[in-house]
Amino acid sequence: MQTLSEQAPALIRLSDYRAPAWRVETVALDFDLGIDASELCARLLLRRDPAQDAPLRLDGEDLQLLSISLDGLQLPATAYRYADNVLEVDGAHDGSVLETRVRLRPAANTALEGLYLSGSRESGFLLTQCEAEGFRHITFFPDRPDVQARYSVTLRADRERFPVLLAGGNPDGAGELEGGRHWARFVDPHPKPSYLFALVAGRLEKLERDYVTADGRPVQLKIWAEADVIDRCHYAMDALERSMRWDEQTYGRNYDLDVFHVVATNDFNMGAMENKGLNIFNAKYLLADPDSSTDEEYRHVEAVVAHEYFHNWSGNRVTCRDWFQLSLKEGLTVFREQSFSADMNSAPLKRIEDVALLRRAQFPEDAGPLAHPVRPAQYSEINNFYTATVYEKGSELVRMLAGRLGRDGFRRGMDRYFERNDGRAATLEDFLGALGEANDTDLMPYLAWYGQAGTPRLKARGHYDPARREYTLTLAQHAPGVAGKEPRPPLPIPVKLALFARDGTMLPLHLQGAASGNLHERVVVLTRTEQSLVFTDVASEPVPSLLRGFSAPVILECDYTPAELALLLGHDVDGFNRWEAGQQLATRAYEDLRDGDATHALHAWCDALARLFDSEAIDDALLADLLTPPGEIELAERETAIDPQHIHGLRQDLQRHLAERLGADALYRRYQALAGHTTIELDAPSQARRRLKRRVLELLHLLDAEGACLLAAAQYRDAPGMTDRLAALAVLVRGHADAAAGALLDYRQRYADNTLALDKWFSVQAQMPGEPALERVLALEKDAAFTPKNPNRVQSLLGAFVRGNPSGFHRVDGAGYRLLIERLITLDSLNPQVAARLATAFNGWQRLEPKRREAARLAIAELAGHVGLSRNLAEIIGNVLN
Ligand code: ARG
Ligand code: ZN
Repeated sequence: MQTLSEQAPALIRLSDYRAPAWRVETVALDFDLGIDASELCARLLLRRDPAQDAPLRLDGEDLQLLSISLDGLQLPATAYRYADNVLEVDGAHDGSVLETRVRLRPAANTALEGLYLSGSRESGFLLTQCEAEGFRHITFFPDRPDVQARYSVTLRADRERFPVLLAGGNPDGAGELEGGRHWARFVDPHPKPSYLFALVAGRLEKLERDYVTADGRPVQLKIWAEADVIDRCHYAMDALERSMRWDEQTYGRNYDLDVFHVVATNDFNMGAMENKGLNIFNAKYLLADPDSSTDEEYRHVEAVVAHEYFHNWSGNRVTCRDWFQLSLKEGLTVFREQSFSADMNSAPLKRIEDVALLRRAQFPEDAGPLAHPVRPAQYSEINNFYTATVYEKGSELVRMLAGRLGRDGFRRGMDRYFERNDGRAATLEDFLGALGEANDTDLMPYLAWYGQAGTPRLKARGHYDPARREYTLTLAQHAPGVAGKEPRPPLPIPVKLALFARDGTMLPLHLQGAASGNLHERVVVLTRTEQSLVFTDVASEPVPSLLRGFSAPVILECDYTPAELALLLGHDVDGFNRWEAGQQLATRAYEDLRDGDATHALHAWCDALARLFDSEAIDDALLADLLTPPGEIELAERETAIDPQHIHGLRQDLQRHLAERLGADALYRRYQALAGHTTIELDAPSQARRRLKRRVLELLHLLDAEGACLLAAAQYRDAPGMTDRLAALAVLVRGHADAAAGALLDYRQRYADNTLALDKWFSVQAQMPGEPALERVLALEKDAAFTPKNPNRVQSLLGAFVRGNPSGFHRVDGAGYRLLIERLITLDSLNPQVAARLATAFNGWQRLEPKRREAARLAIAELAGHVGLSRNLAEIIGNVLN
């Protein structure tokens, strides 16, 4: 039997990068589209690098080659070889034209990469997904982002079955053909890498809007979706228009084609894709209406629409030289998207949401066997590197640079970056170089952040000298160790800080050796392993507020007393740091409960929140966030023998203490007051009320389960929109309430034809805490609406269970692990990307308590011994085992 290491696929290394020996100047694609079989003729005008003499080699996976000709002559079988996913052709020279004809099988493509069918054979439509290496599943091509070509695409198909024919670029003619067929052509004037190619064909409806760019170009915006959901695209259209205006105003970037198409599909591996002129979205991130979407989902739609649109510059006009540079477009675009969302909504709430996500998804990734640098040095399957590290940590790195340069400096740097690299395939060095040069500073030291895995730790110690009225703050950084490696050189770490007096006022900062002004906040960039800052003229011992706004993606260790954290929680004017102080205090309170020897922090936390709960001055949404302790995944990060069920129980106790301190009366009163304004409006105060109402209901449930379930059942029944309805359902289901069954049945019927709403029905049940979850998951797999072929459905049931329900998945008998490996084997044969993503649930198994660790190890080892795993899954399992 072949073991995992024997099937281990080759590693691709950044250090092996070579410029392409052959480029493609223009490509003409001619498609004959059909559900079962599609045929495609590709004509490539080739350019050879005179400095290299490598033979012409093109990527091509699972392609059925029908014919091949070079410079107009059919090639004999001796003049080309197609093996191991490479087509090698003899006799090509600079300026040659290669023509290949292939046959594809879209309906049989369950991996959802390349050309595939979304929906049913009868009514579904055809579409493509090419990033990262899907184009080689469509035709023979040098499928790498540094080969940029001009595309002209002709689509032909039956008019009845495929009334809408779309490809990237500008429309360049359409017409009728014999036999009820028709054609349409699109020409893209901007050279682009193959991963940005896209086509869509089928029965789709559209929303349209005319737009004029700031530089005067009229653009037709068209959003396409299947007829039953097209009415749910209005919010996305508004979000698109807001994104376009924002990029004009904030970065001076205008759109550059005459049309911008956006298409929604239910069958998509990722969130969405920025194909040039033809963005394709997972319907989950495009459709929104009050009856089926929560407030949070509305925010996601706005953010993802913006993200894909922003890629038109950060990704498409300036693309990546190779996939190691992925964060060059993704980290930057996430940063742009986050800034946009902060501008459209509340900046502090957005920051809280983003940092919470970073801690929940990226910190654990960076602390376990799947850790990798933002710019990895090697990979075997690039699809496994669309990670929280490349996206979210990558965005944090851009944020540090932006903070360092300031608003105007960053804009100057970005102008330089776009201007200098327009039309190019760039590297992270190009990015740091442009930002630095435009500001006469050297940003290359930041490159170190891109090259090392792990979350750095920042230790802070304060010392106050009352005689000299001096406060000395010592900051020391520590990179997570890698066994057998040299200690790493220090990173530049921007620390935004302020000092608070004990009465909660901010002190003016007189930093020794720095120009004084009447500053109350400043950014100090730590460049050495350890550095001391001396503040003079400090009247009494201050409380430092550090890393304000989360100015660097590090773990801060500071020996605050509970009273000091409570002071920051009560008074910090930086909304993020106020929340952060609360999170740290809650963590201490959690440890009080866990270790059972003190309750200082617990009391400080509950008291501080009780004061805020009654204050009028605080925004409802921020209050809801303050009332929420760190999640189970985050709490587990601090432990070494993890028992997820125990953690769940302790976190519940922690919240019960808080609820008791707030008191049932106050909670009921608050709930009733909030319930008095029930609407579906999306304005900030309405959303904030719904968020707080949910939190109050959850806290009430810990005090008075029966009473809270009555409220929840009524809230479920009377909810005017999904936010309130789902919140109530979750309280009922998680509380194992009697009323849960009836509500679930009602929901199942009500949304029988609404795929996205049904996904939430699966998730809410997959996330019920503790042992019963697994039985429920098994039962739900038998529901007629469950299918392993739809990535959203798999994510909503299995993903929610294995990655979003630690106390349910990590059963001490190992049943959760065995279920996961069985499902992985099935899923891997259908869709390797989906399987690999689900398999990351095993990350961190080495830190489980011994029984669970052994059960997990056995399950993973069994999977690793399975023959014929995809490269995607094999890489994840191989890494996880290490
Ligand atoms: N570039 C897309 C985005 O905006 C993600 C596409 C990733 N696709 C994949 N198969 N890995 O984030
Ligand atoms: Zn992206």
